[in-house]
Amino acid sequence: MTIKKVAVLGSGLMGNGLTQVFARDKDTSVVLRSRSMKANPLDGIRANLDQLIENDAMTEEEAGAILSRISFTDDMEEALKDTDLVVECVPEVMEIKQDMFRDIEPLVRPDTILATNTSVMSITEIASKTQKKDRVVGTHFWNPPYLIPLVEVVKGEETSFDVLDATYDYLKKIGKKPVKCLKDVQGFVANRLQHAIWREALYVVEAGIADAATVDEALKYGPGLRWPHLGILENVDMIGTDLSLNIQRGVIPYLADNKTPSPLLEKLVADGKIGFKTGEGYQKWTPEEAAARNLALREYLIKVTKDLK
Ligand SMILES: NC(=O)c1ccc[n+]([C@@H]2O[C@H](COP(=O)([O-])OP(=O)(O)OC[C@H]3O[C@@H](n4cnc5c(N)ncnc54)[C@H](O)[C@@H]3O)[C@@H](O)[C@H]2O)c1
Repeated sequence: MTIKKVAVLGSGLMGNGLTQVFARDKDTSVVLRSRSMKANPLDGIRANLDQLIENDAMTEEEAGAILSRISFTDDMEEALKDTDLVVECVPEVMEIKQDMFRDIEPLVRPDTILATNTSVMSITEIASKTQKKDRVVGTHFWNPPYLIPLVEVVKGEETSFDVLDATYDYLKKIGKKPVKCLKDVQGFVANRLQHAIWREALYVVEAGIADAATVDEALKYGPGLRWPHLGILENVDMIGTDLSLNIQRGVIPYLADNKTPSPLLEKLVADGKIGFKTGEGYQKWTPEEAAARNLALREYLIKVTKDLK
């Protein structure tokens, strides 16, 4: 199936970012559907494009072409007319997503793919109120979606392989780095990995082994440097499965294995220490430091993704 027209439902952080991603492809036209026409999402997209231009990652001409492929409406019927792919980016609430797919189904063609950008919820459950469940698929983009290449393409229990493959092929064609997740499991692939490391990082702080800044330094200046180029399983082969087995035998019994969130994390939240937003989480942050970290992250991502191309 050839995907040429995409509708993005929900014009929040991810909806706007995804619209920008799809419009980067010269063969795609994108309709962004918002519940309200009060704020123009194109302003936010324009700001992202300006940052890319300032960092020599895009020309003014390319930015203009991207904007020309985007339209914006509050009319659901108009947004969905003749679409090949619909991606919902509405809040992470099961009932909202289920009802949205149920309600839009009569407004799209029988072969239109319905994709959900859920972060963690079951694709199978999200599809449960639709008639044609084989066309519902997960497309888990990472924030900021126009800078992070990864998209996890997730198969629900009833998603057809045709839909999974067509979605994967399209995302690849438009310059993303899709990966297939063949089981509808919590955390898909990348969040399972991220949370396994988070669990251990939080435990190391709780157990007084090292403070938060040290944990981050250990990762940033150590194994984290290798990861963009050497996958952790490639690393197993590089050092040898025999050595990896011996290391696992020595360390696995001592790693965190809690099945509930970290008690220290629970306490920080209860104390109102929720990070950048309040100036303190695991570490203290002035508003200037928090803003600088956000900006620096985007500039870093622009630089490294330029090299990835
Ligand atoms: N923010 C992230 O880092 C991130 C990353 C990956 C995936 N996601 C997922 O993407 C989805 C959207 O997240 P977001 O961060 O863009 O949220 P957001 O709050 O920024 O945007 C949600 C949008 O949905 C609209 N909306 C609210 N209630 C609605 C309803 N009842 N019906 C229709 N539209 C409604 C809002 O007006 C808003 O435009 C969620 O499922 C989230 O888990 C988020």
